[in-house]
Formats: sequence, structure tokens, C-alpha cells
Amino acid sequence: MTEWHTELAATLDEVWRRLAHGVADACAPARHPALATVGRDGGAEVRTVVLRAADRATARLDVHSDGAAGKIDEIRAEPRVCLHVWDPAGNLQLRLRATAEIVTGAAVAPLWAAVPTPARANYGGTPAPGTPIAAPDDHAARVDAARFAVVSCALREIETLHLGRDRHRRARFRADTDWRGTWLAP
Ligand SMILES: Cc1cc2nc3c(=O)[nH]c(=O)nc-3n(C[C@H](O)[C@H](O)[C@H](O)COP(=O)(O)O)c2cc1C
Repeated sequence: MTEWHTELAATLDEVWRRLAHGVADACAPARHPALATVGRDGGAEVRTVVLRAADRATARLDVHSDGAAGKIDEIRAEPRVCLHVWDPAGNLQLRLRATAEIVTGAAVAPLWAAVPTPARANYGGTPAPGTPIAAPDDHAARVDAARFAVVSCALREIETLHLGRDRHRRARFRADTDWRGTWLAP
């Protein structure tokens, strides 16, 4: 049987299978990508997030955030982001380059309606995330639907690295070539 990592099309299928698994299964490696942005000072920023949606047809990945979090300002200033996943069982690293859009308000009302009540307190706390406070408890959770932000990432490029027993295989798939893949030297 041919193994998926030896063929480009099968590799891309495997990427989307694992991303879908990340959305559906809280224990899947793709559940918690690292989201990298360009900081307001021009330096790199990276943080763990939860993958909330992965749609192959539109090549979009969604993450939810408090609209007052630092990453939101960063993305508004520079929407080119990168998501990273390491899947140890698949020996697979994903680097997902995207252009992100911040969506709030009425457009995301159906998604807000689906956020479980306890989780709603993640959106709207005071003071805003990242504000210096005198003691760790000097903040209060508050539910504010207006602070619910969807970071909708339109993928531009998917890069894979598979660590195989025989060899390492690196590939790149780009939206502007209709996701045709090419192998890269690892
Ligand atoms: C396991 C885990 C999951 C997280 N999921 C999210 C998430 O889905 N959205 C989010 O905004 N922050 C999430 N965070 C918190 C971020 O890592 C980060 O601390 C926070 O968003 C503030 O980052 P920022 O100031 O760069 O915006 C998560 C953290 C951990 C450890």
C-alpha cells in the first residue's frame, strides 16, 4: 500500500484530515495550533490557540479571541499570520500561512450563540488582556458579545514536513496554483 506521505495529493488530503480532527477532537494535535503574528514593534509573536473551524472548500481556518487581545491589533496592522501544528503520531509538521480577517458583531452572532455559557466569560474581561495589574486576581470576567472576535484565516500556503524512517519529505501547496503541490528539499 502506498503511504500518504510519499504522494503530494495524499499529503494534502492528510493535512485536511488532521485539521478536521483538530476541530472535532479536543485531544488531537491540531486542536492547539500556535498562531504567529507580527508584533506592533515588528518582532515575532506566537501563542497557543484553539482551532475552531477548518474548511477545505474555502481554505479557511477559524480561531476565536477576545477582541481586546493584543493579537487583534497586531492582525489589523499586519494580517499575514502563520499557524503551526506538530502532530507527533503522524510525524508531521504543518506551517499554515494565511491572511487573517477579524470578524465581529452581527456576522458572528450565530457562532457567539454556540459558545457555551461558561466560555463566554473569556470575551469581555476587565481590564483588557495584557494590561498590567498589581496582583493576579485584579481582574474580573465579564461577558460582552461585542468583544467576541473570530480570526478567520484564509490560507495562502500550506507547508508540510514529514519525518519518515527512510527520509524526510517537505512539500508546499499554494492557493494561487489551486493547491498544486511541489516537493521541497527538507
Ligand atoms: C491551551 C491553550 C489554548 C488557548 N486558546 C486560545 C484561543 O482559542 N484564543 C485565544 O485568543 N487565546 C487562547 N489561549 C491564550 C493565548 O495563548 C494567549 O495567552 C492570549 O490569547 C493572549 O495573547 P495575545 O495577547 O497575543 O492576544 C490559549 C492558551 C492555551 C494555553
